[in-house]
Amino acid sequence: MENQRILVTGGAGFIGSHLVDALVEQGNQVIVIDNLISSTTEYIQPHIDSHSIQFIEADIRDEKCMKLIEGSLDFIFHFAADPDVRESVFTPLTSFDHNVKGTMNLLELGRQKEIKGFIFASSGGTLYGDVESFPIKETDLLKPISPYGASKAAGEMYISAYANSYQFKAVSLRLANIFGERSNHGVTYEFFHRLSTNPAELKILGDGQQKKSYLHVSDCVKAVITVADIIESQSKYYDYYNVGSEDWITVDNLARGLEDIMGLKAVKHSFQGGTKGWVGDVHLLLLSIEKIKALGWAPSLSFTEGLKKYVHWMKLETH
Ligand SMILES: NC(=O)c1ccc[n+]([C@@H]2O[C@H](COP(=O)([O-])OP(=O)(O)OC[C@H]3O[C@@H](n4cnc5c(N)ncnc54)[C@H](O)[C@@H]3O)[C@@H](O)[C@H]2O)c1
Repeated sequence: MENQRILVTGGAGFIGSHLVDALVEQGNQVIVIDNLISSTTEYIQPHIDSHSIQFIEADIRDEKCMKLIEGSLDFIFHFAADPDVRESVFTPLTSFDHNVKGTMNLLELGRQKEIKGFIFASSGGTLYGDVESFPIKETDLLKPISPYGASKAAGEMYISAYANSYQFKAVSLRLANIFGERSNHGVTYEFFHRLSTNPAELKILGDGQQKKSYLHVSDCVKAVITVADIIESQSKYYDYYNVGSEDWITVDNLARGLEDIMGLKAVKHSFQGGTKGWVGDVHLLLLSIEKIKALGWAPSLSFTEGLKKYVHWMKLETH
């Protein structure tokens, strides 16, 4: 994808800022909209300073802010969201506002601008809910068990409806747990900081046997670009792909791997109990990625390789 005029929502955030780097590198005109609710402009500041992107500080929940986007638009990459699954159980209307109303406002913008394509950061970890057979295929039923998961499912339904009604191409990418440089949330981030404060003991939510798959952010961005490259030629108005890795790891083993990389020995693990980390959490997550692999994408980093890069970055950040 090159020479396209692309709006990236949430482009100041963790995944969004890496995506902005890639889209600018490819020679696209990028507009970022972000309300900086959970980020700063730190990672996109070099692009702002060099005028290689336009940055608009605004909230996608506010339909009036869509008027700030002047001129034509080819694509929307929608990555802004309230990504907090755990918190969504306590504040379901907040995730509805950001993730459903915000998505609707962008779809309306896309309709008015007659865009060619729309790519949505959906959630493979929360869309399918508690599943009995693995890996989870895209054709499995959507049975979210958290308000966040429901908000992503609702977003997908509206994207499908808009893509078909107003005839543009759209794709939902159902992401597994994405981790890596610039992330300030998630289990690896939390464990690293807790182990840095107390290298003798680590408290783990649930029984530590929750088993999930994780994907480094560089591979996630490559998946987005792979889909962006074919979206105009896809036969259906709306399509969807799982994006994850082919292996999964228990939280207990994840912690052990992290401790090895941090050079920590004999850390005592204590478990909070129960089979899940929190209400709305799923116990097991492994996505089938055969569908996106058929487009030529595959993860290039193993979990350990990705974790080493992330730990290196977190060490630099904390000094
Ligand atoms: N990180 C993961 O493991 C993961 C997994 C599945 C799906 N996702 C999805 O990927 C996307 C990016 O996630 P992330 O981990 O980079 O999160 P993030 O919090 O780092 O990035 C989200 C960005 O959106 C912005 N934002 C939030 N609400 C907004 C609003 N109302 N208006 C404008 N900007 C707003 C935030 O300021 C932030 O910069 C989200 O849609 C998330 O739901 C992430």
